[in-house]
Amino acid sequence: MKSLVLLIILFFTSTIQAQEAGDLFTIHCGACHSIGRGKLVGPDLKDITTRRDADWLLRFIKSPQDLINKADPEAVKVFEEYNKILMPNSTLNETQIKDVLNYIKGFGNEDVALSNQAPTDPLQGLNQSNIDNGRALFLGETRFQNNGVSCFSCHNVMDQKSLQGGSLAKDLTLSFSAMGATGIMAIIKSPPFPVMTEAYVNHPLTETEVADLTIYLKSIHQANNNPQSQNHNLAFLFMAQFAFLVVLSIILYLYRNRKNNSVNDEIYRRQSF
Ligand code: HEC
Ligand code: HEC
Repeated sequence: MKSLVLLIILFFTSTIQAQEAGDLFTIHCGACHSIGRGKLVGPDLKDITTRRDADWLLRFIKSPQDLINKADPEAVKVFEEYNKILMPNSTLNETQIKDVLNYIKGFGNEDVALSNQAPTDPLQGLNQSNIDNGRALFLGETRFQNNGVSCFSCHNVMDQKSLQGGSLAKDLTLSFSAMGATGIMAIIKSPPFPVMTEAYVNHPLTETEVADLTIYLKSIHQANNNPQSQNHNLAFLFMAQFAFLVVLSIILYLYRNRKNNSVNDEIYRRQSF
Protein backbone atom coordinates (compact mmCIF):
# COMPACT_ATOMS: atom_id res chain seq x y z
CA MET A 1 0.00 0.00 0.00
CA LYS A 2 2.73 2.43 1.03
CA SER A 3 4.63 1.75 -2.15
CA LEU A 4 1.49 2.34 -4.20
CA VAL A 5 1.04 5.80 -2.67
CA LEU A 6 4.68 6.46 -3.28
CA LEU A 7 4.30 5.36 -6.86
CA ILE A 8 1.31 7.63 -7.36
CA ILE A 9 3.18 10.57 -5.85
CA LEU A 10 6.17 9.79 -8.03
CA PHE A 11 3.98 9.59 -11.09
CA PHE A 12 2.40 12.96 -10.39
CA THR A 13 5.63 14.72 -9.54
CA SER A 14 7.21 13.41 -12.70
CA THR A 15 4.33 14.55 -14.89
CA ILE A 16 4.37 17.91 -13.14
CA GLN A 17 8.07 18.12 -13.81
CA ALA A 18 7.56 17.29 -17.48
CA GLN A 19 4.80 19.86 -17.68
CA GLU A 20 7.01 22.47 -16.06
CA ALA A 21 9.83 21.74 -18.48
CA GLY A 22 7.31 22.01 -21.34
CA ASP A 23 6.21 25.40 -20.04
CA LEU A 24 9.81 26.50 -19.67
CA PHE A 25 10.40 25.50 -23.26
CA THR A 26 7.30 27.32 -24.51
CA ILE A 27 8.06 30.50 -22.59
CA HIS A 28 11.82 30.71 -23.02
CA CYS A 29 12.52 28.93 -26.31
CA GLY A 30 9.22 28.42 -28.16
CA ALA A 31 9.16 31.86 -29.76
CA CYS A 32 12.25 30.97 -31.75
CA HIS A 33 12.47 27.16 -31.86
CA SER A 34 10.15 24.30 -32.73
CA ILE A 35 10.73 20.63 -32.02
CA GLY A 36 10.11 18.86 -35.31
CA ARG A 37 8.06 21.55 -37.03
CA GLY A 38 10.89 23.16 -38.95
CA LYS A 39 12.93 26.25 -38.30
CA LEU A 40 11.48 29.44 -36.92
CA VAL A 41 13.90 32.19 -35.91
CA GLY A 42 16.40 29.55 -34.85
CA PRO A 43 16.98 25.94 -35.89
CA ASP A 44 14.54 23.08 -35.30
CA LEU A 45 15.68 21.43 -32.05
CA LYS A 46 14.47 17.91 -32.82
CA ASP A 47 17.25 15.40 -32.09
CA ILE A 48 19.52 18.21 -30.92
CA THR A 49 20.57 16.08 -27.94
CA THR A 50 21.93 13.41 -30.27
CA ARG A 51 23.45 15.85 -32.73
CA ARG A 52 25.33 17.83 -30.11
CA ASP A 53 27.49 17.07 -27.11
CA ALA A 54 25.61 17.51 -23.78
CA ASP A 55 28.26 19.77 -22.30
CA TRP A 56 28.35 21.96 -25.39
CA LEU A 57 24.55 22.32 -25.31
CA LEU A 58 24.62 23.44 -21.71
CA ARG A 59 27.31 26.02 -22.38
CA PHE A 60 25.68 27.23 -25.59
CA ILE A 61 22.21 27.68 -24.09
CA LYS A 62 23.59 29.48 -21.03
CA SER A 63 25.45 31.96 -23.17
CA PRO A 64 25.56 31.67 -26.96
CA GLN A 65 27.24 35.08 -27.01
CA ASP A 66 30.08 33.85 -24.85
CA LEU A 67 30.78 30.86 -27.14
CA ILE A 68 30.63 33.04 -30.23
CA ASN A 69 32.99 35.56 -28.68
CA LYS A 70 35.36 32.71 -27.92
CA ALA A 71 35.14 31.72 -31.61
CA ASP A 72 33.84 28.21 -30.84
CA PRO A 73 33.71 26.77 -34.39
CA GLU A 74 30.30 25.05 -34.05
CA ALA A 75 28.65 28.07 -32.43
CA VAL A 76 30.06 30.41 -35.07
CA LYS A 77 28.84 28.08 -37.81
CA VAL A 78 25.18 28.07 -36.62
CA PHE A 79 25.38 31.79 -36.03
CA GLU A 80 26.52 32.41 -39.62
CA GLU A 81 23.92 29.98 -40.95
CA TYR A 82 21.14 31.90 -39.20
CA ASN A 83 21.97 35.30 -40.73
CA LYS A 84 23.90 36.33 -37.65
CA ILE A 85 20.81 36.52 -35.50
CA LEU A 86 22.08 36.22 -31.98
CA MET A 87 20.20 33.98 -29.58
CA PRO A 88 19.85 35.87 -26.26
CA ASN A 89 21.73 34.52 -23.23
CA SER A 90 19.41 32.38 -21.13
CA THR A 91 18.00 33.42 -17.78
CA LEU A 92 17.41 29.76 -16.86
CA ASN A 93 19.66 28.04 -14.32
CA GLU A 94 21.58 24.86 -15.06
CA THR A 95 18.91 22.49 -13.69
CA GLN A 96 16.19 24.19 -15.70
CA ILE A 97 18.28 23.99 -18.88
CA LYS A 98 18.81 20.25 -18.25
CA ASP A 99 15.04 19.84 -17.74
CA VAL A 100 14.36 21.63 -21.02
CA LEU A 101 16.90 19.44 -22.83
CA ASN A 102 15.28 16.31 -21.37
CA TYR A 103 11.93 17.61 -22.52
CA ILE A 104 13.26 18.09 -26.05
CA LYS A 105 14.80 14.61 -25.97
CA GLY A 106 11.58 12.94 -24.83
CA PHE A 107 9.35 14.94 -27.09
CA GLY A 108 6.67 12.72 -28.58
CA ASN A 109 5.97 12.18 -32.22
CA GLU A 110 2.67 14.11 -32.34
CA ASP A 111 4.46 17.27 -33.28
CA VAL A 112 6.25 15.52 -36.11
CA ALA A 113 2.95 14.39 -37.57
CA LEU A 114 1.95 18.02 -37.71
CA SER A 115 5.00 18.83 -39.78
CA ASN A 116 3.77 16.56 -42.55
CA GLN A 117 0.82 18.79 -43.21
CA ALA A 118 1.40 21.51 -45.76
CA PRO A 119 2.35 24.67 -43.90
CA THR A 120 -0.41 27.26 -44.05
CA ASP A 121 0.37 30.94 -44.36
CA PRO A 122 -0.65 32.47 -41.03
CA LEU A 123 -1.39 35.76 -42.79
CA GLN A 124 -3.76 34.22 -45.29
CA GLY A 125 -6.92 36.24 -45.94
CA LEU A 126 -5.56 39.51 -44.54
CA ASN A 127 -5.69 42.62 -46.72
CA GLN A 128 -4.77 46.30 -46.96
CA SER A 129 -7.12 47.27 -44.14
CA ASN A 130 -5.21 44.91 -41.84
CA ILE A 131 -1.95 46.57 -42.89
CA ASP A 132 -3.40 50.01 -42.15
CA ASN A 133 -4.67 48.80 -38.81
CA GLY A 134 -1.26 47.29 -38.04
CA ARG A 135 0.45 50.57 -38.88
CA ALA A 136 -1.93 52.56 -36.64
CA LEU A 137 -1.30 50.11 -33.77
CA PHE A 138 2.46 50.15 -34.33
CA LEU A 139 2.60 53.94 -34.34
CA GLY A 140 0.23 54.31 -31.40
CA GLU A 141 -2.49 56.04 -33.41
CA THR A 142 -4.89 53.30 -32.34
CA ARG A 143 -4.80 52.00 -28.78
CA PHE A 144 -4.24 48.31 -28.09
CA GLN A 145 -7.31 46.66 -26.63
CA ASN A 146 -5.46 45.93 -23.37
CA ASN A 147 -3.65 49.27 -23.33
CA GLY A 148 -0.18 48.00 -24.15
CA VAL A 149 2.41 50.65 -25.04
CA SER A 150 2.92 51.29 -28.78
CA CYS A 151 5.74 49.43 -30.54
CA PHE A 152 6.97 52.78 -31.84
CA SER A 153 8.02 53.86 -28.36
CA CYS A 154 10.89 51.37 -28.60
CA HIS A 155 11.23 50.46 -32.28
CA ASN A 156 11.76 52.39 -35.46
CA VAL A 157 10.80 51.23 -38.97
CA MET A 158 11.53 52.78 -42.35
CA ASP A 159 8.05 53.77 -43.32
CA GLN A 160 7.55 56.77 -45.60
CA LYS A 161 4.47 57.64 -43.60
CA SER A 162 6.12 57.87 -40.21
CA LEU A 163 8.59 60.01 -38.34
CA GLN A 164 11.53 58.59 -36.45
CA GLY A 165 10.42 56.12 -33.76
CA GLY A 166 12.05 54.93 -30.58
CA SER A 167 15.64 53.84 -30.67
CA LEU A 168 15.73 51.86 -27.44
CA ALA A 169 15.39 48.63 -29.43
CA LYS A 170 16.27 47.36 -32.87
CA ASP A 171 14.92 48.87 -36.11
CA LEU A 172 12.35 46.37 -37.41
CA THR A 173 12.50 47.25 -41.12
CA LEU A 174 14.34 44.05 -42.02
CA SER A 175 13.07 41.74 -39.28
CA PHE A 176 10.44 40.11 -41.47
CA SER A 177 13.01 38.91 -43.98
CA ALA A 178 15.03 37.30 -41.20
CA MET A 179 12.16 35.57 -39.35
CA GLY A 180 9.13 35.29 -41.57
CA ALA A 181 5.55 35.54 -40.37
CA THR A 182 5.81 32.60 -37.93
CA GLY A 183 8.89 34.01 -36.24
CA ILE A 184 7.51 37.55 -35.93
CA MET A 185 4.18 36.31 -34.58
CA ALA A 186 5.93 34.07 -32.08
CA ILE A 187 8.08 36.94 -30.86
CA ILE A 188 5.18 39.37 -30.52
CA LYS A 189 3.08 36.77 -28.68
CA SER A 190 5.76 35.83 -26.17
CA PRO A 191 8.76 38.11 -26.52
CA PRO A 192 12.00 36.44 -25.44
CA PHE A 193 13.50 39.84 -24.60
CA PRO A 194 13.05 40.95 -20.96
CA VAL A 195 12.39 44.63 -21.74
CA MET A 196 9.71 43.80 -24.28
CA THR A 197 8.17 41.01 -22.14
CA GLU A 198 7.85 43.46 -19.27
CA ALA A 199 5.98 45.94 -21.48
CA TYR A 200 3.22 43.47 -22.40
CA VAL A 201 3.03 41.00 -19.52
CA ASN A 202 0.01 42.78 -18.02
CA HIS A 203 -1.26 44.08 -21.36
CA PRO A 204 -1.43 41.07 -23.67
CA LEU A 205 -2.10 41.68 -27.35
CA THR A 206 -5.04 39.98 -29.04
CA GLU A 207 -4.64 37.47 -31.89
CA THR A 208 -5.96 40.01 -34.39
CA GLU A 209 -3.55 42.67 -33.19
CA VAL A 210 -0.62 40.25 -33.51
CA ALA A 211 -1.66 39.31 -37.07
CA ASP A 212 -2.20 42.93 -38.14
CA LEU A 213 1.18 44.00 -36.75
CA THR A 214 2.85 41.09 -38.52
CA ILE A 215 1.33 41.87 -41.90
CA TYR A 216 2.29 45.52 -41.41
CA LEU A 217 5.93 44.49 -40.82
CA LYS A 218 5.67 42.31 -43.92
CA SER A 219 4.49 45.30 -45.97
CA ILE A 220 7.40 47.37 -44.63
CA HIS A 221 9.82 44.63 -45.60
CA GLN A 222 8.31 44.48 -49.10
CA ALA A 223 8.37 48.24 -49.57
CA ASN A 224 12.01 48.42 -48.57
CA ASN A 225 12.94 45.45 -50.71
CA ASN A 226 11.72 47.23 -53.78
CA PRO A 227 14.77 48.78 -55.49
CA GLN A 228 13.02 52.05 -56.24
CA SER A 229 12.24 52.80 -52.63
CA GLN A 230 15.72 51.67 -51.67
CA ASN A 231 17.04 54.43 -53.92
CA HIS A 232 14.63 56.72 -52.19
CA ASN A 233 16.06 55.81 -48.80
CA LEU A 234 19.61 56.18 -50.08
CA ALA A 235 18.76 59.57 -51.54
CA PHE A 236 17.34 60.55 -48.19
CA LEU A 237 20.48 59.45 -46.36
CA PHE A 238 22.60 61.34 -48.85
CA MET A 239 20.57 64.50 -48.44
CA ALA A 240 20.76 64.25 -44.66
CA GLN A 241 24.52 63.92 -44.85
CA PHE A 242 24.77 66.84 -47.23
CA ALA A 243 22.66 69.03 -44.96
CA PHE A 244 24.87 68.06 -42.04
CA LEU A 245 28.02 69.11 -43.92
CA VAL A 246 26.48 72.45 -44.91
CA VAL A 247 25.50 73.21 -41.31
CA LEU A 248 28.93 72.15 -40.10
CA SER A 249 30.71 74.44 -42.56
CA ILE A 250 28.53 77.39 -41.60
CA ILE A 251 29.35 76.84 -37.94
CA LEU A 252 33.04 76.52 -38.69
CA TYR A 253 32.91 79.70 -40.78
CA LEU A 254 31.17 81.71 -38.06
CA TYR A 255 33.65 80.53 -35.47
CA ARG A 256 36.72 80.95 -37.64
CA ASN A 257 38.25 83.74 -35.51
CA ARG A 258 37.25 82.44 -32.15
CA LYS A 259 39.86 79.85 -31.48
CA ASN A 260 43.03 81.69 -32.31
CA ASN A 261 43.93 82.42 -28.70
CA SER A 262 42.73 80.75 -25.58
CA VAL A 263 40.62 82.59 -23.05
CA ASN A 264 43.38 82.34 -20.48
CA ASP A 265 45.71 84.01 -22.84
CA GLU A 266 43.44 87.03 -23.12
CA ILE A 267 43.02 87.32 -19.37
CA TYR A 268 46.75 87.06 -18.93
CA ARG A 269 47.43 89.84 -21.41
CA ARG A 270 44.77 92.08 -19.94
CA GLN A 271 46.38 91.85 -16.53
CA SER A 272 50.01 92.24 -17.41
CA PHE A 273 49.64 95.50 -19.28
C1 HEC B 1 15.16 35.18 -29.74
C2 HEC B 1 15.14 33.87 -30.33
C3 HEC B 1 15.72 32.69 -29.55
C4 HEC B 1 15.37 32.22 -28.30
C5 HEC B 1 14.38 32.82 -27.34
C6 HEC B 1 16.11 30.98 -28.11
N1 HEC B 1 16.89 30.74 -29.20
FE1 HEC B 1 18.11 29.14 -29.48
N2 HEC B 1 18.76 29.92 -31.23
C7 HEC B 1 18.29 31.07 -31.81
C8 HEC B 1 19.04 31.34 -33.03
C9 HEC B 1 18.80 32.52 -33.98
C10 HEC B 1 19.98 30.31 -33.14
C11 HEC B 1 21.02 30.11 -34.26
C12 HEC B 1 22.00 31.24 -34.30
C13 HEC B 1 22.83 31.41 -33.08
O1 HEC B 1 23.71 30.59 -32.85
O2 HEC B 1 22.59 32.39 -32.34
C14 HEC B 1 19.78 29.43 -31.99
C15 HEC B 1 20.51 28.27 -31.75
C16 HEC B 1 20.23 27.35 -30.75
C17 HEC B 1 20.89 26.09 -30.57
C18 HEC B 1 22.00 25.51 -31.46
C19 HEC B 1 21.35 24.66 -32.50
C20 HEC B 1 22.32 23.88 -33.32
O3 HEC B 1 21.93 23.42 -34.41
O4 HEC B 1 23.45 23.70 -32.87
C21 HEC B 1 20.34 25.47 -29.48
C22 HEC B 1 20.68 24.13 -28.89
C23 HEC B 1 19.32 26.38 -28.96
N3 HEC B 1 19.28 27.52 -29.75
C24 HEC B 1 18.52 26.11 -27.87
C25 HEC B 1 17.67 27.03 -27.29
C26 HEC B 1 16.95 26.79 -26.06
C27 HEC B 1 16.95 25.50 -25.25
C28 HEC B 1 16.25 27.94 -25.79
C29 HEC B 1 15.37 28.23 -24.60
C30 HEC B 1 16.02 28.14 -23.31
C31 HEC B 1 16.53 28.89 -26.86
N4 HEC B 1 17.39 28.30 -27.75
C32 HEC B 1 16.00 30.18 -26.97
C33 HEC B 1 17.28 31.87 -31.34
C34 HEC B 1 16.68 31.75 -30.10
C1 HEC C 1 9.67 48.51 -24.00
C2 HEC C 1 10.32 48.43 -25.27
C3 HEC C 1 9.71 47.57 -26.37
C4 HEC C 1 8.43 47.64 -26.88
C5 HEC C 1 7.30 48.55 -26.42
C6 HEC C 1 8.37 46.69 -27.97
N1 HEC C 1 9.57 46.05 -28.11
FE1 HEC C 1 10.06 44.68 -29.55
N2 HEC C 1 11.90 44.47 -28.75
C7 HEC C 1 12.40 45.18 -27.66
C8 HEC C 1 13.77 44.73 -27.39
C9 HEC C 1 14.68 45.25 -26.30
C10 HEC C 1 14.06 43.72 -28.35
C11 HEC C 1 15.35 42.88 -28.48
C12 HEC C 1 16.18 43.31 -29.64
C13 HEC C 1 16.96 44.55 -29.31
O1 HEC C 1 17.82 44.48 -28.43
O2 HEC C 1 16.69 45.59 -29.90
C14 HEC C 1 12.88 43.60 -29.20
C15 HEC C 1 12.81 42.75 -30.30
C16 HEC C 1 11.73 42.68 -31.16
C17 HEC C 1 11.70 41.87 -32.36
C18 HEC C 1 12.84 41.01 -32.90
C19 HEC C 1 13.65 41.91 -33.80
C20 HEC C 1 14.81 41.26 -34.51
O3 HEC C 1 14.95 41.52 -35.73
O4 HEC C 1 15.58 40.55 -33.85
C21 HEC C 1 10.48 42.08 -32.95
C22 HEC C 1 9.95 41.47 -34.24
C23 HEC C 1 9.75 43.02 -32.11
N3 HEC C 1 10.55 43.37 -31.03
C24 HEC C 1 8.46 43.48 -32.37
C25 HEC C 1 7.76 44.36 -31.56
C26 HEC C 1 6.39 44.79 -31.81
C27 HEC C 1 5.54 44.38 -33.00
C28 HEC C 1 6.05 45.60 -30.78
C29 HEC C 1 4.69 46.25 -30.52
C30 HEC C 1 3.62 45.32 -30.23
C31 HEC C 1 7.20 45.71 -29.90
N4 HEC C 1 8.22 44.94 -30.40
C32 HEC C 1 7.24 46.50 -28.76
C33 HEC C 1 11.74 46.16 -26.95
C34 HEC C 1 10.41 46.56 -27.15
